[in-house]
Amino acid sequence: MDKIKIIGGNQLNGKIYISGAKNAALPLVCSSLLTSDEVTLKNVPQLSDITFLNSLLKNLGVKINESTKLHDSQIIKAFSYRADDIKELIAPYDFVRKMRASYYVLGPLLSRFKHAELSLPGGCAIGARPIDIHLSSLEQMGANIEIKNGYVVADAPSGLHGSHIIFSKASVGATCNILMAAALAEGITKIENAAKEPEIANLIDLLNGMGARIEGKDTSILTIEGVKKLHGTEISVVPDRIEAGSYAVAAAITHGKIELINARAEHLQQPLRILEKMGIGVEEKNSSIIIDGVGKHIIGEDIYTDYYPGFPTDLQAQFMALMTIADGASLVTESIWENRFMHVPELCRMGANINIHGHASAIVRGVKKLSGAPVMATDLRASFALVLAGLVAEGETIVNRVYHLDRGYERLEEKLKGVGANIERIRESD
Ligand code: UD1
Repeated sequence: MDKIKIIGGNQLNGKIYISGAKNAALPLVCSSLLTSDEVTLKNVPQLSDITFLNSLLKNLGVKINESTKLHDSQIIKAFSYRADDIKELIAPYDFVRKMRASYYVLGPLLSRFKHAELSLPGGCAIGARPIDIHLSSLEQMGANIEIKNGYVVADAPSGLHGSHIIFSKASVGATCNILMAAALAEGITKIENAAKEPEIANLIDLLNGMGARIEGKDTSILTIEGVKKLHGTEISVVPDRIEAGSYAVAAAITHGKIELINARAEHLQQPLRILEKMGIGVEEKNSSIIIDGVGKHIIGEDIYTDYYPGFPTDLQAQFMALMTIADGASLVTESIWENRFMHVPELCRMGANINIHGHASAIVRGVKKLSGAPVMATDLRASFALVLAGLVAEGETIVNRVYHLDRGYERLEEKLKGVGANIERIRESD
């Protein structure tokens, strides 16, 4: 397995180009299952999760064409999908086991082909991660759902119909799945307590571009008037707010100055305000954000993760890395996932002073310095937190299990090297 080696201590300065958002691209890719026309997605990040989802779609019978172009000396990828000859309606265990977001095929397949089978995702490193809201909502829309041999087997012989659905939690995944299912259902679906993340707005724009009738974008009440048929279109994947927030912390923690090109400040309001409270300079521009940590004194600050527009759980680990070297204490409260402090013992091995209280709270008391160590994390964002700690730690840090990072950070070493980090990938065969 590849590793990442970092020699800490370099101040990072320059520009980092922010890629398309993984979490937006995943449901956009699956929306292509709703039509036999071509759907083109631009600004798709080159990540193993995307490669993986593409292989699941190919397995179902979707034809995929890839193209690249150079923009601002960045390679931008586009994929065109044509689901005009679907042969399979099953997302098998081997796919779902490797990537939970495979469940995004459920809504579109069931709605267009009246049948879908999905291996149950099961638990994962950051908690139980149930899909009960997805399933009960589809049942409300007329689906018969059975669990057989570890699979969700869903049928809707006379098609799905509209329904008034109230989500018990503002689930991102369920909002995407039900939006896709409702787009082709008969009648009107109303979702209350829908998620409002920018990735959902991106999906609504794509679906409406395909001929869907969805109202309520950016609010927690979505109304979808089902249509008989959807058609092809093209759209750009929204810039990745979590990638931008992660590199913002890289600038702050190394007392450097980085311009995050293509980042959207409006999608990062909470994290940017927290950075300011921690003493870091933030300048919001039209299509970039400048994070300035040069000469700044970093101060401890509390965070509470919440549904958008609250502080994103996907930036909790990275901000905790910053808190480890801040002056004073910080309280981190994780309200979305029940088991999302796996980075804590690893940060402590690097010299951090963190105490976990119960499942949801951690107190970080800032220390003067971290020291490099071999570390590993069990999820994507926690792995990035260890990279951040490595950037500021004295000596060498080896981050193991790099496949987590490859799932969600496009060209990570190249981007960090470009702003002055001493970082390299040690290939398995090296
Ligand atoms: C998405 C993101 C993930 C992020 C999370 C919260 C993707 C691919 N992943 O995950 O990076 O951390 O949003 O912002 O976009 N829940 C249920 N039943 C359900 C569904 C969810 O109880 O059927 C609960 C979950 O256990 C969790 C909360 O709802 O406590 C939010 O989960 P959800 O928004 O669905 O997360 P994902 O879409 O899986």
